[in-house]
Amino acid sequence: MTRADERAPVSILDYLRRGTTFLRDRGSETARLDAEVLLADLLDRPRIALYTAFEEPLERAHVDAFRERLVRRGRGEPVAYLTGHRDFHTRTFAVTPAVLIPRPETEHVLEAALGVLESDRAARVVDVGTGSGCLAVSIAAERPAATVVATDVSRAALAVAAANARTHGVEGRVAFATLDMLGAVRERSVDVVVSNPPYIARGDAASLPRDVRDFEPAGALFSPGDPRDVYRALVDGAARALRPGGSLIVEVGHDQRAAVESLFRERFAKVDVTPDLAGIDRVIHGR
Ligand SMILES: C[S@@+](CC[C@H](N)C(=O)[O-])C[C@H]1O[C@@H](n2cnc3c(N)ncnc32)[C@H](O)[C@@H]1O
Repeated sequence: MTRADERAPVSILDYLRRGTTFLRDRGSETARLDAEVLLADLLDRPRIALYTAFEEPLERAHVDAFRERLVRRGRGEPVAYLTGHRDFHTRTFAVTPAVLIPRPETEHVLEAALGVLESDRAARVVDVGTGSGCLAVSIAAERPAATVVATDVSRAALAVAAANARTHGVEGRVAFATLDMLGAVRERSVDVVVSNPPYIARGDAASLPRDVRDFEPAGALFSPGDPRDVYRALVDGAARALRPGGSLIVEVGHDQRAAVESLFRERFAKVDVTPDLAGIDRVIHGR
């Protein structure tokens, strides 16, 4: 322990060190990063700006707010629910406990969709289970000629997604619908269906990290029965809703590639599988 750790904390660096120790002791594997993100957000500065402000004192109000955040994070609450936002691809999305926190793996679904959507050609896209709207809003923002229908069974999630569409200026081209899967979507009316559905089996709940299991919405994580039934509903629904030549692009769990790929091969002429950055087969694309 250094002298700086023994005296009462004063500076930003003091509080970051204390916060890091506090979170590490409570099991965070990303304690320093968590502390930096929580404090930078409170100070409304980019995280990197903390590094040139280490010696600045921290105001009383910020100290109290930082402590409260550390306590909540120490109990497992995800950083993104504490700050209220998370970056996805090139944008920042508001998140609340009503929505899944967008994951980097899902950016591969977005990339696959952008790969089939031309910039200047009108296209109709459906995002099944939109959550924060990270896929629907990113697609609309990146492809100005596209219109998107974002569906979810959670009205609270749709409200978050609608707010994100407004923030990113695409509310005129993203419609929101409370729908079960592709329920009421007209036959042969859609060019691309994307989905990151709830794909974890209830029986696997115990193997999830506490931050996920205890804080993210169960309806976003767990499939109601066998996860394959969720993909079957998507494949059957998409086969009906897609125009000839259309695409269904889905995210799958780490061990689901074989099962989902075989469902796709029953219905689609061409099936591609894309791994995520960890090398896990993550995205299945049928055309
Ligand atoms: C894994 S989250 C994905 C959220 C977001 N697309 C993302 O990638 O971050 C799944 C979402 O599907 C929604 N959902 C669950 N069952 C559904 C169903 N039968 N039809 C439509 N959406 C559903 C959940 O409410 C949740 O918002």
